[in-house]
Amino acid sequence: MLHHSRADFPEGFLFGTATSAYQIEGHATGGAGRTQWDDFAATPGNVAGAENGALACDHYHKWPQDLDLIADAGFDSYRFSISWARVLPDGFGPVNAEGVDFYDRLVDGMLERGIKPAATLYHWEMPSALLDLGGWRNRDVAKWFADYTYTIMSTLGDRIWSAAPINEPWCVSWLSHFLGQHAPGVRDIRATARAMHHVLLAHGHAIEAMRSLGMDNLGAVCNLEYAEPVDDTPEAAQAASLYDGLYNRWFLSGLFKQEYPEDVLTGLAPHMPAGWEDDFGIIAQPLDWCGLNYYTRKLIAPDPGAWPSLREVEGPLDKTQLGWEIYPDGLEHFLKNTAATYTGDLPLYVTENGMAWDDTPGRADVERIAYLNSHLDAVQRALAAGVPCKGYYVWSLLDNFEWAFGYAPRFGLVHTDFASLQRTPKASYDALKAALSERT
Ligand code: FCB
Repeated sequence: MLHHSRADFPEGFLFGTATSAYQIEGHATGGAGRTQWDDFAATPGNVAGAENGALACDHYHKWPQDLDLIADAGFDSYRFSISWARVLPDGFGPVNAEGVDFYDRLVDGMLERGIKPAATLYHWEMPSALLDLGGWRNRDVAKWFADYTYTIMSTLGDRIWSAAPINEPWCVSWLSHFLGQHAPGVRDIRATARAMHHVLLAHGHAIEAMRSLGMDNLGAVCNLEYAEPVDDTPEAAQAASLYDGLYNRWFLSGLFKQEYPEDVLTGLAPHMPAGWEDDFGIIAQPLDWCGLNYYTRKLIAPDPGAWPSLREVEGPLDKTQLGWEIYPDGLEHFLKNTAATYTGDLPLYVTENGMAWDDTPGRADVERIAYLNSHLDAVQRALAAGVPCKGYYVWSLLDNFEWAFGYAPRFGLVHTDFASLQRTPKASYDALKAALSERT
């Protein structure tokens, strides 16, 4: 059972669930181009079991059933993503008409079921052909991305309820170009600095492109992670603060304050692309909302190595299947802090929240229900403090391809049998359905 029903939330508060293209669609089907994730996964050691998204949940064929699951649960909105390489197999140039038709039917399918389509334009499917040209390192990526945005939204834009250009700029840049844990698996500070800037530039140009089509309800989606100093030394406090800077403040400051934080620039300034200071007019486009993806916190310790001279330390809290500490207070903190420091009265959405657990079909996923309860409690505390939070999306509808971890981590409200592709709702799905049906 969930503690809260829909009736406990303000009038109009939206509940939704989220997925992304490469994680569910089956990217080998329907004329999609090759992506950086196909290449990354084909390189030994990058993805657990060398698994990839070639088939995934075969959502490309099973989407009507998946939309029925969303509607039957009583969700108001579905946050899905559009694969760049499915629309433009080479990143620019010829359009894959079959791919555009797929998204066209998908959006109509949502509307027929009374589900608000919340689109993301980039959830990491960089076309391989663009990676050959430097991918996020190349400033031109911002224009290529805006052109792709214009192309697909010329068809879908009149029926999209909300849109965000980029999912999680930290993952696109730092995780993928500094830590090398996501495609393209680069570990290089110069590439990182460029990616951290170009990803926001691409966001800004894509917003411009969508505005030029007359679209509204446009936002940005950042993933935020709470940084806790490992002990009470000033060195640990400084390390945690820098972690917060390069993870959270960099992107929020760029988007909403037209600046980058000084502590992060200490390390990155020498590696930034020329003229970056002049780009904030494009980056900081007026937005209609801001989305926060939240999962966990990290304990941070100072480290004698090169900048940023910090490391993650295993924490003491209960953990999910991925070893991520469960820390709902972090969500309350970020909702309050984002509104207070960056966004003011702008509507905030929790655009992703959920947990991986090694679910077995037939056993209730009580751990996920507890996770959702504790995080919805955190949303309630933020609402009580006056934060204009307008909705909450659970990650994820289905067990799916969890990037470098392959198919083992199960984030779904619905179990996926990856052999038969059968979908089976879990107890958490039933609990949400019960909570969402109670309106007053
Ligand atoms: C987020 C991603 C999403 C999924 C969840 C667990 O960072 O946006 O695709 O991997 O984490």
